[in-house]
Amino acid sequence: MILETIVITWDLQGIPHIAPMGIHTAAPDAGRSLVILPFRPSRTLDNLLSAGQAVVNATDDVRIFAGCLTGRRDWPLVPSQRVSGYRLRDALATTEVELERTEEDPVRPRLHCRIVHSASHAPFRGFNRAQHAVIEAAILVSRLERLPWEKIQAELSYLQSGLDKTAGPRERQAWDWLMEKIAQFESKREIS
Ligand SMILES: Cc1cc2nc3c(=O)[nH]c(=O)nc-3n(C[C@H](O)[C@H](O)[C@H](O)COP(=O)(O)O)c2cc1C
Repeated sequence: MILETIVITWDLQGIPHIAPMGIHTAAPDAGRSLVILPFRPSRTLDNLLSAGQAVVNATDDVRIFAGCLTGRRDWPLVPSQRVSGYRLRDALATTEVELERTEEDPVRPRLHCRIVHSASHAPFRGFNRAQHAVIEAAILVSRLERLPWEKIQAELSYLQSGLDKTAGPRERQAWDWLMEKIAQFESKREIS
């Protein structure tokens, strides 16, 4: 299974870096290990290879996903518990990991991590279609250069209906940031 999370890493000076990442988990090791797969080049990859630790954050604040994709990476952090870094202050749950081994790949190495600490910080309140729409739109934004323009437009129009019916202010703001970025991409595309 792949879970869409916010992964926090840090460099050797302790400077944190926040990035949305789909982390892979599989039975029977789901509670003991997980795999992070960054596409090269990636600061998450560089930090994990040098500091050897990370914190995987579960959050329903989809502004963080949209924010990271639109240049807004400054989200409140607090120190993590077992590894020497940070977690999202408002995470619902966190998983602290240490890098165990790396499966090299020129495009997308597989970073196998051992779970050293897990904690719940706030309850899961239920599924929300607008949150799903923002996460899907954020993935589209991360692939703007690679996907056909018609596919992007078709998917956005489908996602928009779930968003319109179910969004709260956070989801609406996250969506607006993403649409701004897509509009900028579209106007550059028209010029060239
Ligand atoms: C929901 C979601 C999941 C993502 N999963 C991955 C992933 O598994 N690997 C990856 O390299 N980028 C992923 N991305 C894109 C990265 O977050 C983005 O490109 C980021 O800047 C990665 O580079 P960095 O490590 O240098 O920050 C994802 C984006 C979203 C919105």
